[in-house]
Amino acid sequence: MRNSLPFLLGVLSVAMSGTLCAADTVPNPQSVVVTVSKHGGATQVQMLEGHTHLSPAVPWTPARVSQALREMPKPNEQRGKALHGEMFCASCHGVAGESLSDNWPSLAGQRAEYTYKMLLDYQSGLRHENETASIMKAEAELLTKQDMADLAAFYSAQPLPEATHIADAATTRMIRKGEASRLVTPCASCHGLHGQGGINESPALAGLSRDYFIRTMQHFRDGKRNNDSVQAMRAFATPLTDAEIIALADYYAPVADK
Ligand code: HEC
Ligand code: HEC
Repeated sequence: MRNSLPFLLGVLSVAMSGTLCAADTVPNPQSVVVTVSKHGGATQVQMLEGHTHLSPAVPWTPARVSQALREMPKPNEQRGKALHGEMFCASCHGVAGESLSDNWPSLAGQRAEYTYKMLLDYQSGLRHENETASIMKAEAELLTKQDMADLAAFYSAQPLPEATHIADAATTRMIRKGEASRLVTPCASCHGLHGQGGINESPALAGLSRDYFIRTMQHFRDGKRNNDSVQAMRAFATPLTDAEIIALADYYAPVADK
């Protein structure tokens, strides 16, 4: 039963965000068990650091991504809004998709194509970079493609959080002009001049939670996040230092964080 599902996820979210507030660090549970149920059955996801069980998943090609996006079901935004509450997405990602924790991504204003692809990737196990991705896998396993499209449409209809857009000259240059010597293409060419997102699955970055931004860039850099098609983000993140990633995170961080 859908409704009984995320009680534990809700408890977990409170527990994890509590840890975050107290210590002001990234929660890193050593052992958390998430129990979810579907149609009366039960699934258990054991999150032990370094011991997450992953299902094999086929990497994307650009052609397959385009096909999957073309086949995205016609969305029903109102249904997405209801699912966002019923499935407890709101407890971690915020009532209107603006995350309350710096450690969890906001979804408000995100491109529907990107959100839809992420939910497919969590469901297939292709996106599996850390133990928090296991939470999302447990959630995504309960969703149909129609559910994913509806949720994605709801988030994309919410206003994109305002970003600080504060950056030093080097960071501004990286965003607008890239860095040819290190083969970094301008972030703005795919993510938009204001971080509003680009075409296909190129996500909006404006208002992306700061700690999450840093973590996911580091995961691209070390190859743990490898769900991007043609390895583009992995290639752009690889030459970046931690200091550069943090400066980029500050630029795209929500104004409220400053
Ligand atoms: C217990 C907390 C929790 C719940 C409940 C939860 N999420 Fe998440 N979600 C996360 C975390 C943490 C991440 C980031 C995981 C990572 O670092 O890989 C995430 C990532 C995502 C992403 C990827 C965002 C991005 O910018 O790449 C999407 C999309 C998403 N969640 C949608 C949902 C939806 C839809 C639901 C409800 C069906 C949901 N989440 C329920 C914690 C949660
Ligand atoms: C050629 C296009 C392209 C360029 C240039 C590019 N990106 Fe990306 N980026 C993408 C795509 C496509 C994705 C989605 C990957 C996936 O499918 O998971 C992405 C994902 C991301 C994400 C993850 C967002 C989330 O919500 O999890 C971050 C952060 C990011 N890019 C930052 C950057 C930064 C910073 C730069 C510049 C240094 C940059 N990107 C340059 C195409 C690009």
